[in-house]
Parts: sequence; structure tokens; C-alpha cells
Amino acid sequence: MEHVNILKEYGLFDAKVPRYTSYPPANRFEPNTGAQMQENWLANVPKNTPLSVYVHIPFCRRLCWFCACRTQGTKTLQPVDVYVDDLVSEIKEVTSHLTSAHRMARLHLGGGTPTLLTVSQMTRLLNALDQTFERASNFEFSVEIDPTEAAPEILDLLAAHGMTRASIGVQDFEPKVQHAIGRHQSFEQTTQVVARLRDHGVTSLNIDLLYGLPHQTKETLKATLKKVQSLQPDRLAMYGYAHVPHMSKRQVMIQTESLPSPIERYEASLFARELLLAAGYETIGIDHFARPSDSLAKAAKAGNVKRNFQGYTDDPCATLIGFGASAISKFPEGYVQNAVATNAYQARLRSGRLAGHKGYVMTAEDRVVSDLIDQIMCQVCIDVQDLSARHATFAHVIGQIAQDLQNRFPKAVNLSNGKLRLRPSMIPLARVVAACADTSLHANYLHSAAV
Ligand SMILES: C[S@@+](CC[C@H](N)C(=O)[O-])C[C@H]1O[C@@H](n2cnc3c(N)ncnc32)[C@H](O)[C@@H]1O
Ligand code: SF4
Repeated sequence: MEHVNILKEYGLFDAKVPRYTSYPPANRFEPNTGAQMQENWLANVPKNTPLSVYVHIPFCRRLCWFCACRTQGTKTLQPVDVYVDDLVSEIKEVTSHLTSAHRMARLHLGGGTPTLLTVSQMTRLLNALDQTFERASNFEFSVEIDPTEAAPEILDLLAAHGMTRASIGVQDFEPKVQHAIGRHQSFEQTTQVVARLRDHGVTSLNIDLLYGLPHQTKETLKATLKKVQSLQPDRLAMYGYAHVPHMSKRQVMIQTESLPSPIERYEASLFARELLLAAGYETIGIDHFARPSDSLAKAAKAGNVKRNFQGYTDDPCATLIGFGASAISKFPEGYVQNAVATNAYQARLRSGRLAGHKGYVMTAEDRVVSDLIDQIMCQVCIDVQDLSARHATFAHVIGQIAQDLQNRFPKAVNLSNGKLRLRPSMIPLARVVAACADTSLHANYLHSAAV
């Protein structure tokens, strides 16, 4: 109860703060600037740079009510076929702006539902990528898989094309919860998909779960986690359900009154966390878990975990190229987001342009905030010395911010030996602390420090 009071005092249960999957968040990118930035920054990518590639497939045959991802329903595969053609032309267009050959170190297919593609559509997409980018020796290939939309032949094809990690959407196995969120998926279906992947030697498995859903209780969570553990995933994401019906219209199907209170959400997350720790998983950042043998857990120990649009990653690439409607690319210079609506994305490509629409140039100040927030979100700690060494001009600001956070959250953090650490029971406050550092850096220091 003592912990709950502290979290309450520091605003956890009322906070509306960014998810910080990127800094700055995508809502700060500027419209109509992206294509020019994309053209310039693609041309700047040094020869033979290892690239991370993301391909967005926005289509789903079913639209789950809880989902806040950039998706669109489709009853037929005809629009998907046209979209794959557009992806292939985007790959060619982007390549024409790169000045030399590059290696692909990571490939992630996300959505929506990438496994909705037919074998011939997926083959066309993967061949286009392989003809463009040579695979690096440490190449990793991951795919988001909805077990209710994963035909055996598409799993076989992905495995044959070298898929190394499958990220499987589960959310919850309790029928009453599934009914309330408009997503029906049996344990048997999921087990069959996992077995097929394992038969193909896809050893790395991630499972996505949600807490904060209607009708979830400790008993249902425990039962879901027991089933999930029997699938032996290497990684788990335990996201808090984000109820944002003003942004994701289909969420109006979920009755607000049926949702747990903020304190019940917190207790559910704590309960799940304890079960996962007892099962031998280690925490990664604020909401991911991994077995100690998994590369993400090893990267976390070495301080090399980063935040990306899919959660946490050990991807070392400085450049991420995003293909598809709404996909975001990250360059050392800043961010570019493709046109979000599928028809706007297609119109750009068909008029011979790059698909970038929004863009953002990172300033020196943004890089300080970005690195500081990354440390809070990934290591739940600010290493003042390390950050100051990387941003010498801002060293005094960084030290001051750590002290300010200690003063603002004395019962949640501990500043000693140049490190400001969140106490383990206070990890749920990470985004609140990050948002406070973000606001405070802008309001009090950065602009004056920059002159
Ligand atoms: C883009 S979805 C793709 C999953 C895949 N199509 C499937 O259904 O299995 C990736 C993950 O985002 C998470 N997600 C979607 N909507 C969310 C929300 N409203 N709040 C929190 N997480 C959400 C879910 O855990 C989901 O598995
Ligand atoms: S959870 Fe997956 S299948 Fe459901 S709507 Fe979202 S992306 Fe589509």
C-alpha cells in the first residue's frame, strides 16, 4: 500500500504522458517536409552501412476492438496485391536515392497482419528486398504473427526465407476477456502455430500480452500466463492496454465502465511481473521480459537495449528504413514518416515521388533529451557521467536535471555516484519521470544552454 501511495503522490494514476517509442514523439514531426529530408538523408548513408528495414502491412481481415495500431480492414486480397506492387516500387525508388550498396542487418515485417499475404505476394516482397539489400552475416528477420491468420504455407515460406524471430499476438487467453475486446483466438490455434515455427527451427519467440483489459482478474491473468509459459517464449511484452477511442474509433466497442481502474491496472501489472520473474524471466525496461539466455536480456545487462517503434530492441543500426504507409524511417539526421493513409502513400509513389510526408530534423538539444529518455526507458537509470561525456556542451544541464528529479521524486529515485536510479517498485513511474525530465529540460535549460 505504501508503494501505491507514493505512486499516487507522484501522479502515476492521472498521468497522460507520451509512450516515448521515439523522441521526439511522431506527433511533433512536420508535414510536407519528409520527402526532401528522405532524399537528402538517403544520399548521405555511408557506403556499406548495415541497415535496419521495417515493412508495414496495414491490412487485417478482422479488426480487433482493442487495437490502436495503424490498420485497415479488408475482405479480399485484391487491395493487398496492389499494395505489394506499391511496396516493390517504393523499394526501387528508395534504392535509387542511395549512392552505394548496403547490407540489411535487420528486417521486421509489422502491421496490421503481415501473414495475411499470400505465398506469391510475400515471395514478391521478400525477393524485392533481397535483390536490393545484401543480407549481413548477423542478419535477423522478425515477423508479427496473428495465429488466427497464419496459414501453414505462409509460415513455411517465411521460415524458408530465413525468419529468425516470430512475434506472436496473444493479448489474453480468457474467453470472456477475448469476447470483450473483439478478438477470439484459441490456445490450440496458437500452440499449432508455435509448434510449426519450432519445427522449422525458428527458435526465437516473442509473445505480446496486455493488462488493463475488461474482465481480467488475478485468476485469469495467472491462467493466461500459465498457458503462455507452456509455449516457452524467449521474450514477452506485457503492454498496458491504451484506451484511446478518440484516436482509434473501433475502441468505442469496449465499454469504458468495464475497464479496470488505474490502481487495478497497476496491481495487475505488478502481479504479472511477479509471476514472470518467478518463472525465470528478467525485466527489460518498463514492460518487456526476456529469458537470461535471450539476446535482449544480454543486451540489457550490457546497457545496449534501445527503444524502437515495436518496443525494445538490441538493434545496433543507426539507420532504419521504413517501407509502407505510415512507416517511419530513422536516420542519424532525424525522422521521416511516410504518408499515413494508404491512398495518399500510393498517390505519392505513383507520381514518381518518395513516400515521405512528415519529417523532423534532430537538434543538438533533441539528442540530449532523446539519450536521457532512452536511458530512463531502457535502463530505468540516468548515467550522468556517460551522458555528459556524450554531450559535453550540456554537461552542467544533465547534472542539474538529475538533481531536480531527485528533488521532485525523492521517494522514487536515488541519486548516488553519478547515477539516478528508479527504485525497483517505482519502475511504473518511468514515463512520468521521463516526461518531467523532457519538460524541465526544455523549460529551464536547453534554450539558454544552447546560446
Ligand atoms: C500491430 S499489433 C500486430 C499484432 C498482430 N496483427 C496480431 O494480431 O497478433 C502489435 C501489438 O500491439 C499491441 N497493441 C495493439 N493495440 C494496443 C493498445 N490499444 N494498447 C496497447 N497495446 C496494443 C498488441 O499487444 C499487439 O499484439
Ligand atoms: S491486433 Fe492484429 S489482427 Fe487485430 S486489428 Fe490489430 S493488427 Fe489487426
